[in-house]
Amino acid sequence: MIELGVNIDHVATLREARKGKEPDLIAAAKVCELAGAHQITVHLRQDRRHIHDADVRQLRDVLQVRLNLEMAATDDIIAIAHCVKPEVVCLVPENRREVTTEGGLDVAGQVDRLTEVVKGFRDDGIKVSMFIDPDLDQVEASAETGANFVELHTGAYANADDLDRYNELERLVQAARRAVNSGLVFNAGHGLTVRNLRPVAAIPGLNEVNIGHSIISRAVFLGLHAAVAEILDILRECTK
Ligand code: PXP
Repeated sequence: MIELGVNIDHVATLREARKGKEPDLIAAAKVCELAGAHQITVHLRQDRRHIHDADVRQLRDVLQVRLNLEMAATDDIIAIAHCVKPEVVCLVPENRREVTTEGGLDVAGQVDRLTEVVKGFRDDGIKVSMFIDPDLDQVEASAETGANFVELHTGAYANADDLDRYNELERLVQAARRAVNSGLVFNAGHGLTVRNLRPVAAIPGLNEVNIGHSIISRAVFLGLHAAVAEILDILRECTK
């Protein structure tokens, strides 16, 4: 089955609106786990605007499913990741003024440095994913670094109007094929919803999706357990 990572950053965003303790991030992670999520994903941003260092440490202690730590490949965050030891780190670009991760990481422009970073993580038993645009050069560069996974950025597909959506889907299909042929496991994420997930889930070789905003948004109306379960139902249906 295609696996689901639930990104719970938005639960922390809500908590930070009042700088208090509610909603409880750990409780949210546990509900996702109970609903059948395969992984919890959080982004420890350099500005700590939502997820804090203590959240990541606590999640590491209580989770029974995988922890996927999204992060910029900066020395300070790399050091934290080595201490926390999540099962997976996903290297993402980070721009302090962005509302969310806007584009993929430029792996091709920093292969030597990222190869070193990947080696450090893999030697420490941590798998590495590169969050990249569906671009063949970026896929090949990711393979060169020794990363385990690529997570293809589905934002352009999700935001495209009907005419462009087919072209964006085709870019994802081609990038996924190149990833698999290069020995990478291929994941996808960003902007995925109950409405646009099916065509992505049908791409051959898809291993996992990471979904945050739409699950937490629908949880406001349906409850978190139900919002996770409806995505899992779609993934199950698409795996048949
Ligand atoms: N995957 C990665 C690498 C991301 O940075 C994000 C957004 O933080 C997501 C998945 C989830 O995107 P969304 O919140 O749009 O579902």
